[in-house]
Amino acid sequence: MKLRTIDDIDVKNKFVLLRDDFNVQIVDGQITDAFRIEQSMPTIKKLQAKGAKIAICAHLGRPKGTRNMEYTLAPVAKYMNIPLIPDCLDKSFMSQMREGDVVLLENLRFYPGEEKNDLTFAQELASRFDIFVNDAFAVCHRAHASTVGVAEILPSYAGELLASEIENLTKVLTNPTRPLVSIVGGSKVSTKIGVLKSLSKLSDTLIIGGALGTTFNYALGGKVGNSLYEPEQKDNALKILEYAKQNGCNVLLPLDKGVAKEFTRDAKRTNKDFSEIEPDDVIIDAGIETTARDVAAIKTASTVIWNGTVGMAEWMPTWSYGSFALATAIAEQTRKGKLQSVIGGGDTVAALEACGVKNDITYVSTGGGAFLEFIEGKTLPGIAVLEK
Ligand code: 3PG
Repeated sequence: MKLRTIDDIDVKNKFVLLRDDFNVQIVDGQITDAFRIEQSMPTIKKLQAKGAKIAICAHLGRPKGTRNMEYTLAPVAKYMNIPLIPDCLDKSFMSQMREGDVVLLENLRFYPGEEKNDLTFAQELASRFDIFVNDAFAVCHRAHASTVGVAEILPSYAGELLASEIENLTKVLTNPTRPLVSIVGGSKVSTKIGVLKSLSKLSDTLIIGGALGTTFNYALGGKVGNSLYEPEQKDNALKILEYAKQNGCNVLLPLDKGVAKEFTRDAKRTNKDFSEIEPDDVIIDAGIETTARDVAAIKTASTVIWNGTVGMAEWMPTWSYGSFALATAIAEQTRKGKLQSVIGGGDTVAALEACGVKNDITYVSTGGGAFLEFIEGKTLPGIAVLEK
């Protein structure tokens, strides 16, 4: 895939509309994880150094086309120490801009035209800009005005982060060093059918954990108590197991689980085999035996792809046991030079951060849904529009 990049252009004294993904978690006005913002900095700095006048456009949350200030990008502007333009269609600031200046436009999703990829909205957003740069890999699976619409209007290019995401993910998908062990956790089979299919074709071993794993255990007749699972996904789960078998992929499902009598952070943890699970048990984490087996599988791998935690990793320390053990093993093997590790998805990346191993991973993606769709092999509309 050949993309037009910012290395191909002269941006000196040009007005650049830059799309970033600043859809970050904000609690009480404070950004709790700035990973996406930090990963966007190389492109911003490069454009500044080349003398561009930069207006960043971004979204936060899902305000559904209304000006709901709960979703203001003000905390992001404050964190980056740049001015916030309170309306993303306002152009009055442009005449005062000098080379290297950067501003942030308020949440694009305050306008219904953004998510509808409305032509008039895209034209208004693009007007008076010379160039469009997309660096928002994490939202490239959405055909919105700021990912597709403006790219069809202005000369458009990929930023450094977008190019690096594509390069790193393509490398692991097209030519992985084997054995390749993939780990898919999280809660919903329904959102992961595509990725489970493509990973069961690509991988030597596929570990399925989290509530996703519980649905697979249920599909095979296992006891799941009062846990989160999707009974209606039984047939899909069985089809995926059959597909993996046809493709020679070894699937590892949960053997035992960390359970409690209630789904709360402070609940008392017991380790149970599936055969011991009672109707009022709630599965909250991977069990001891499952975790040991999965860590052993990681130690045999040359490549690991991971999306989705295998328990409530944010409920530390009781329920983060399984996810942290996997994160630690992957980080250790990567540090030793024995493993190429590629990890994506908000909760999974947060788990890496929480156990202090994020910097040890070969490639951490900023994408959640976009990461999954890319791995599935889907064409991401925000990327397709930038192809040479
Ligand atoms: C993300 O956080 O995955 C992206 O910013 C896309 O957000 P969305 O799912 O609300 O479109």
